[in-house]
Amino acid sequence: MSSLRLPPLSLYVHIPWCVRKCPYCDFNSHTNSGDALPESDYVDALLEDLAAEANTENLQGRQLVSIFFGGGTPSLFSAAAIARILQGAEQLIGFAPAVEITLEANPGTVEQQKFKGFREAGVNRLSIGIQSFNDAHLERLGRIHNGAEAMSAISIARQAGFDNINLDLMHGLPEQTPEQALADLQQAIDLQPEHLSWYQLTIEPNTAFHNQPPLLPVENTLERIQAQGHELLESAGFNAYEISAYARPQRQSQHNCNYWQFGDYLAIGAGAHGKITDISGQKILRSRKTRQPNDYLSRLSKGNNYLAEQFSLEAAELPLEFLMNALRLKQGVPASLFAERTGMPLKTIETHWQVLDSKNLVEPLSTGRLSCTALGHRFLDSILAEL
Ligand SMILES: C[S@@+](CC[C@H](N)C(=O)[O-])C[C@H]1O[C@@H](n2cnc3c(N)ncnc32)[C@H](O)[C@@H]1O
Ligand code: SF4
Repeated sequence: MSSLRLPPLSLYVHIPWCVRKCPYCDFNSHTNSGDALPESDYVDALLEDLAAEANTENLQGRQLVSIFFGGGTPSLFSAAAIARILQGAEQLIGFAPAVEITLEANPGTVEQQKFKGFREAGVNRLSIGIQSFNDAHLERLGRIHNGAEAMSAISIARQAGFDNINLDLMHGLPEQTPEQALADLQQAIDLQPEHLSWYQLTIEPNTAFHNQPPLLPVENTLERIQAQGHELLESAGFNAYEISAYARPQRQSQHNCNYWQFGDYLAIGAGAHGKITDISGQKILRSRKTRQPNDYLSRLSKGNNYLAEQFSLEAAELPLEFLMNALRLKQGVPASLFAERTGMPLKTIETHWQVLDSKNLVEPLSTGRLSCTALGHRFLDSILAEL
């Protein structure tokens, strides 16, 4: 490797608790069976974890371009706790001028005062987990809120001063018809968010739905939902810039774009995954923090060792790792980014790329970009297999 360059730096903060575990969810989220959350200890641990990250050579003076509080349900935490984390991050690392700070919120945990507090703490983007507005579907999904609460969460967020809001919606829900899926989307569009994440429900191992599978719409119905929903979103002015991400102009998620462009991200909190470029060693490191919240908490002041594992990516893995991310973006990435972010010459993938080009799955390299064709986006898995 010869030409690895330093990419932008983001920060992911994992808050691992939820009021109730949803039957489809395989995220590292845990219920806290009635006990108060160990909020203050957890913030202490996060800051110690971050201090250890900040104390390496790998930051190279970079400031944070984005921060994402994900979960779990970060909106369970008080605004004061979020403020402490942000103050710590600013002191330890520093913020780039237009830093994007997103917090995930569950509509069942929304209060006016709290949202105002998040805004005052510096959070400037909210991601609200709506999933559906249909009460029967919400109940089937084990959600703690109904459709009316989902609607009011957005107006509460607006009143609290948020002008950058993402709504998470899922489709392909148990026994959902295309009409119901489109009605959910239309309701979301009518609320005029800046961004919509529209995910097809997947059944993941180690979830309640996996153990007792619900009756999902058949493939044909799923395809209709996908095609008609995509059209509805585009005609409402939302641009599909990634497989499931739709944004109004200039409102793409900076944080997610940094992941997809193979940028760097520190990750703190239980089970959080990070990626960082070691520029002097010319390698890319991936890391994972201790997964169980109680184990993570027990590391507090015991030698700053929150890491469960850290390893450098093998050269042979880098092209695929890079393209698995970059090709999710509808516009792909400039071809020059391949060498900058992997440290390998573009010719490493030239032969495979030509095979894919001959099948009309990717755009020719002469475009100066690495991107899929419309056909390629439908068969992304086959492309990654070829690579
Ligand atoms: C970590 S959750 C965060 C938000 C918050 N905990 C909530 O649920 O309201 C991120 C999003 O991933 C999506 N998601 C989670 N599990 C999924 C699954 N099995 N299939 C599709 N989307 C899923 C949901 O839309 C969810 O809002
Ligand atoms: S609230 Fe969100 S993170 Fe928590 S269990 Fe449900 S989907 Fe998962």
